[in-house]
Parts: sequence; C-alpha cells; structure tokens
Amino acid sequence: MNTVHTSISVDRVLRPATIVGTGAYVPTRIMTNADIKKIVDTTDEWIFTRSGIRQRRIAAPDEATSDMASIAAQRALAAAGITAADVDQIIVATLTPDMAFPNTGCFVQAKIGAKRAHCFDIEAACAGFLYGLEVARHFVSAGTIETSLVIGAEKLSTVTDWQDRATCVLFGDGAGAAVVRPATRGRGIIGNVTASDGNLHELLSLPGGGSRNPASHATIDARLHYMKMNGKEVFKHAVRAMTDASQQVLKKCGLTTRDIACIIPHQANMRIIQAIADRLDLGLDSFFVNVEKYGNMSAASVPVALDEAVAAGRVKQGDLILMVGFGGGFTWGATIMEW
Ligand code: ACO
Repeated sequence: MNTVHTSISVDRVLRPATIVGTGAYVPTRIMTNADIKKIVDTTDEWIFTRSGIRQRRIAAPDEATSDMASIAAQRALAAAGITAADVDQIIVATLTPDMAFPNTGCFVQAKIGAKRAHCFDIEAACAGFLYGLEVARHFVSAGTIETSLVIGAEKLSTVTDWQDRATCVLFGDGAGAAVVRPATRGRGIIGNVTASDGNLHELLSLPGGGSRNPASHATIDARLHYMKMNGKEVFKHAVRAMTDASQQVLKKCGLTTRDIACIIPHQANMRIIQAIADRLDLGLDSFFVNVEKYGNMSAASVPVALDEAVAAGRVKQGDLILMVGFGGGFTWGATIMEW
C-alpha cells in the first residue's frame, strides 16, 4: 500500500461505552448459486471454491435500505430493553442509501419514531459499521449522548452488475444494528484502529451517479452505476489490511489472539478469512463465519455476523471479541471489546 494514515484510539475515554443490544434483518428472498447460474456463465462449484458463498439474500423491489435498517434497529432496541424514544443518535453506515439525501438515518428515525435522535450516514464501504461504532463510542464516552444506534445496511443488489460474473456472485442485501451506551459492567469497547488509503480508490468503486460522473444516458450505457472491482488486488489488500489491523489493535490493547474468544471478520470471502486466520496462526474455529448464507453485505456484514454470533452463544458475557473490516476507499478498521 502507499501512504497509510492510521488513527488509533484505545485508551483515555471519560467513560467506557459498550454494545448493549444487537439486531439483524435479511430479506426473505434467497438467491442460490444455481439461480445465478441462470443469469451468468458460472457454476456453484466455481463460486463456492472461490468465495465460500452458496446463497445470498435479495431485497424486494419496494424494500429500500432504510426499511431493512429499521427492522434491524427495532430488533437491537428490543434486545437492549429500550425504546426508540431513548435514542439520541442514529448512524447508518451504507454505500447504498435510499437516496443521495436526506440521509438514510433520517428515514430510519421517521420509521421507528426516534424523535430525539440526530441522524447521519457514514460511507466507509464494508468498513462502515466499524467506523460508525467508533464515532458512536466517542459521543457516548465523551458524555455528549447516552444512546447511539449504529446500523450497517445495504441493498447491494441495486448496484451489482448482473452481467458481470466476476462480481455479481459475491454480494447480497441485509442490515445489522447495535445499541451503544455507557458500560455499566466490564470494559466495553477497549480499543480501535481505523485506517484509509485513498490512493487505491480505483481498485473498488462505484463511479457513476456522483459529482464526478453525474447520471446521464452515457454513464448508464457505460454501466458506471454498478460496482467495479479488481478482484485479485482487492483480495491481497483485504488480507494484508485486516491482518495488520487485527495485530495493531491487539498490541495497542496489550492483548494477544489467545485472549480473544471470537473474531468477527467482514464476510467478503471465505478465502480472505482463511488467509487472515493463517497469518494470525489461528484455526477457522476462532472466527465467526456466515458468508456461505449471505455473501458480502458490505457495511451490514459485521453487525449481522455479530448478532448471529451472540444468538449462537459464540459471544458470551465477559468475552473479548475482535471485529475487523475492510472495504472500498480503501477503508479498514478493527475494534476489540469486552462483551
Ligand atoms: N464463474 C466462473 N468463472 C468466473 C467467474 C464466475 N462467476 N468469475 C470469473 N471467472 C473466470 C474469469 O473469467 C477467469 O477466467 P480466465 O482465466 O479464462 O480469464 C477465471 O475465472 C479466474 O478469474 P480470476 O478473477 O482470476 O479469479 P480469482 O481466483 O481471482 O477469484 C474473486 C475471483 C473471487 C473475485 C477473487 O479475486 C476475490 O475473492 N477477490 C476479493 C474480492 C472481494 O471479496 N471483494 C468484495 C468487496 S471488497 C471487500 O468486501 C473485502
């Protein structure tokens, strides 16, 4: 990688913040590899061996990102034992907002009735949820607010090029949410590493529809409104960045992988997760993995995996967990917390 700016925050917070409830939602429609085989020239065997993905969820045409986000949010609030009236802040991490503005958080606010909340979106691609969690942590730790609702939600099916077999097999739709409040027991969120490298933006992007290439017949004809990816390069950088971020955050916290009960990685690709496990000298059983069921849901991947890990008993009270993500930008980050 070229110039890398890494900001690290571990330590001196006024009061610790923690996740007190999680929730997730995935659309009901399942698209299997056999279904994709009817659209592009591929096979279940190719997709599974290259990515570990068997199926993904696809949102209904009238189901927008905020609709999925709102259901995940309500489930997280229920798990936390609070109501929407208690929420001071809504952060939605997404690269597929309902529209350019208003922000998706405002739509969620209206849907769930969180009247007191201020709302904004974060765009850090697949690392977005971890960026949002870190922002929420600082608001709560500083004492500015009591309750933040951090959501990662994506309708990637709308920005997937269904004529490009190299990318369309990888992605899916869904939403995950977490409620962040002051920690009343344990250490809560202990440490974080957040980093970006904008020099590599061309390796993974969605070039059309913004101010660089405003929507026009020409941009649509050139299919610029779909994700573009250099798969091999993204693979290499994802492995290196997520491995480095994991090692950095462990070091900052004075911990080793032996202290971590469960690693929740971005669910991009089974081979990426396996490569990180190899570099950290860990078995796959140290990781929570659900990529087989959902594919890559970008900002939704980590919070959906976290919610499922909690439900499955893989994350228990007092456990130290490490969440790590990587996405377009490039952007990446890792967070350690005591559950
Ligand atoms: N079915 C069958 N063949 C395919 C398909 C497909 N769906 N897609 C590509 N191929 C072919 C290619 O055309 C190529 O054929 P050729 O050799 O005749 O030219 C061959 O398979 C090999 O293609 P590669 O791109 O070299 O395949 P690779 O082994 O690199 O795997 C993959 C591709 C899965 C995309 C891999 O590069 C990867 O996982 N990259 C990481 C990307 C990623 O996860 N991105 C998600 C976003 S970023 C993030 O969230 C971390």
